[in-house]
Amino acid sequence: MPKKNFETIRLMANENPFGPSPKALEAIKKYSKNIHCYPGWIPQTLKEKLALKNKVSPTNIAVSAGSYELINLITRFLVNRDEEILTFDNTFMAYSYSAKRNGRKCVIAHMSGLECNMNDFIPLCGNKTKVIFIANPNNPTGTIVTEDSLKMFLKTISTNILVVVDEAYNEYVTDESYPDSVQLQKEFPNLIILRTFSKIYGLAGIRIGYGIANEELVEKLEKFRLLRSINSLAEKAAEAALDDIEYTRHSAKYNDRERTYLKKELTHLGFPIIQSQANFLYLPFDHDDQKNYVYKILADHGLRVCDLAIFGRKKSLRITVGKKDANQRIIDCLSQIIR
Ligand SMILES: Cc1ncc(COP(=O)(O)O)c(C=O)c1O
Repeated sequence: MPKKNFETIRLMANENPFGPSPKALEAIKKYSKNIHCYPGWIPQTLKEKLALKNKVSPTNIAVSAGSYELINLITRFLVNRDEEILTFDNTFMAYSYSAKRNGRKCVIAHMSGLECNMNDFIPLCGNKTKVIFIANPNNPTGTIVTEDSLKMFLKTISTNILVVVDEAYNEYVTDESYPDSVQLQKEFPNLIILRTFSKIYGLAGIRIGYGIANEELVEKLEKFRLLRSINSLAEKAAEAALDDIEYTRHSAKYNDRERTYLKKELTHLGFPIIQSQANFLYLPFDHDDQKNYVYKILADHGLRVCDLAIFGRKKSLRITVGKKDANQRIIDCLSQIIR
């Protein structure tokens, strides 16, 4: 039978389905005539804008070529060879990958369920533990660590341990128990916050992100950052995206509505979907062959979701919340399989 020609929809990388912020696009067009000029050593205007937005000093902001760059810098330069990195098993793989690539030891805490329980770290924290990475919301489960549990954890552990909260999806969170990490950072100088322009701002391809941390750490991170690693178009795009309040507000609202719809419909089809606070849903299966079957059917219909086998989770898929018609296509497709 001839294969139907479906338009392929990317639902595997948690990108903004609306594309880049229109103001960022405009800025890229406007500044592209200047790309023969070097960017500054430090993107000072962007730093100041980020400081204003987050109510911190520019000296607390470290801009980077995406969160990956900061994850790499933290792993490589803030952890010695005889020290350890600690993270969860069902979380963003960049932390353990980065440890491996940099020859650092990564200790993995097992998650008994789909939530990140900070208490699971306690027995693994020792005098070699240097950095703990937590994705909040967690990728791929979409669950959050609450303000209370993060604060309790920070009070419990040694202040020598750096706690990195990666908030790539923070703009999508609607749960009020989500931490005000910027406030916590003022109380706990060993807390580092990672943010990115790759998700709600729609700028994944241009590579820009930032961290919020104490001055001393920011200085170190900037010292080790590759010279001029932030390109001038990324810098200008990020500045403009920060001003595109309407676009981010619309993206967050739309995501919330569609996330609720997808969760309701998938639950109705019998999938055990947990509440996600991000722009994706975690779809667990009893067996990997079931998952492979569903993945293939979705792919045959042009719906490219993430097979978490590549992250060591053989029995799960992750689906990015897309535009209304993409989400409807997911549900229609799965309804036909289940029936
Ligand atoms: C938790 C988390 N952090 C960071 C990133 C990557 O961010 P960036 O594109 O800024 O490197 C992702 C991307 O999927 C992510 O899920």
